[in-house]
Amino acid sequence: MKSKWGEEENETIDSIKNINYNGRILNVAAGDGRFNNLLLEKASEVVAIDLDEKDLDILVNNTPMGLRDKLKIEIVDITKKFPYTDDSFDGVFCTGSLHLFEKKEIIKILNEIKRVLKPKGKIVIDFATDIKRYDRNGNEVVFSGEGLYSMDEAINFLKEKLKCFSLDIVKSTFEEECSEDSTGYKFIKGNFIVLSGIKYRV
Ligand SMILES: C[S@@+](CC[C@H](N)C(=O)[O-])C[C@H]1O[C@@H](n2cnc3c(N)ncnc32)[C@H](O)[C@@H]1O
Repeated sequence: MKSKWGEEENETIDSIKNINYNGRILNVAAGDGRFNNLLLEKASEVVAIDLDEKDLDILVNNTPMGLRDKLKIEIVDITKKFPYTDDSFDGVFCTGSLHLFEKKEIIKILNEIKRVLKPKGKIVIDFATDIKRYDRNGNEVVFSGEGLYSMDEAINFLKEKLKCFSLDIVKSTFEEECSEDSTGYKFIKGNFIVLSGIKYRV
């Protein structure tokens, strides 16, 4: 699927396939829907949440008609309490987004992910590190308020905060040229980790 946020990375696709999602899945900060159709193929329902209504409209348009009955979209600020009850999802998915926040916000978001996820619920989370962004003139772009994490720092932090999961961690790199101005940059590169696992205690 074509997305303004880049390619669907093979490492994340493999993690989605290996974790074998089923049931009701929450796609946190879903954007314009990278990976969302893969989730829909496995799930009985996917709830895709984001702050950006335009991206969610594109996500719906990117969803084949045969899968739309299983899709629900909602505008949600993920830095606030999620509007869902405890243990209400079989899986949670979140890519390309957590690295945008400072640690105290990430902790709040991960706590909400853990709260809404059922025991034995499944997660796939990716986290970008060592990011460099450039505008079309080659000048570096830095987003205000973002954490800018190194690989080791991110792995140690996420392992600690996801202790209640049996975690599998895959490391990789990415490099993208963006076709859209709304991303805020023209080129981006860095490393990323994909964490997948099952919640085995609260
Ligand atoms: C880099 S995009 C990644 C989108 C998608 N998950 C993907 O992998 O392509 C980050 C997404 O986070 C969303 N976002 C940023 N802050 C948010 C917030 N406080 N609540 C909900 N979504 C937020 C943005 O609107 C954007 O869609």
